Amino acid sequence: MREGSLKLLLIFFIAILIHQSQIIAGANELFIKNCATCHSVQKGDKTLRAGPNLWGVFGRKAATHKSYPMYSEALQKSKIVWNDDHLDKWLTNSREYVKGSIMMYAQSDAGVRKNIINYLKTLK
Ligand code: HEC
Repeated sequence: MREGSLKLLLIFFIAILIHQSQIIAGANELFIKNCATCHSVQKGDKTLRAGPNLWGVFGRKAATHKSYPMYSEALQKSKIVWNDDHLDKWLTNSREYVKGSIMMYAQSDAGVRKNIINYLKTLK
C-alpha cells in the first residue's frame, strides 16, 4: 500500500473515533440536562438523590438497586428487566408506562430517548 493511502486510512479511522466519542459526549450532556438532578451514575455512589443510582442499570431487574430505599411498590412489582424497549417506554412517559411509579419524566423526542438509552448502556 502506498504511503498516501495509508495516511488516508488513518485519517478515516481517527475521524470515526472522534465521531464516536462525540456521540457519547452528546449523550452525556443530554443525561446531565434531563436526568442528573435525580440520578447519580457513579459506580458505588450511595449519596441519596431523588432517584436510584443508574450505574449498570441496563440489563438489571427494575427496582433492585440496594442503596435506594424509595422505590415505588408499582416498580418493584413490574417484573421489568431494563432493555431498549422498556427504557424507551419508561422515558416516553414513566408514570403512564408503570402506573403508580414515582418518577416524573416524559420525553417525546425518540432521538433524545435513544441517545440517553445508549448512554445508559455505557455505564458498566
Ligand atoms: C425528578 C427526578 C427524576 C428525573 C428528572 C429522572 N428520574 Fe429516573 N427515577 C426517579 C425516581 C424517583 C425513580 C424511582 C421510580 C419508582 O420507584 O417508581 C426513578 C427510576 C428510574 C429508573 C429505574 C431504576 C431502577 O433501579 O429500576 C430508570 C432506568 C430511570 N429512572 C432513568 C431515568 C433517566 C434516563 C432519566 C433522564 C432521561 C431520569 N430517570 C430522570 C426520579 C427521576
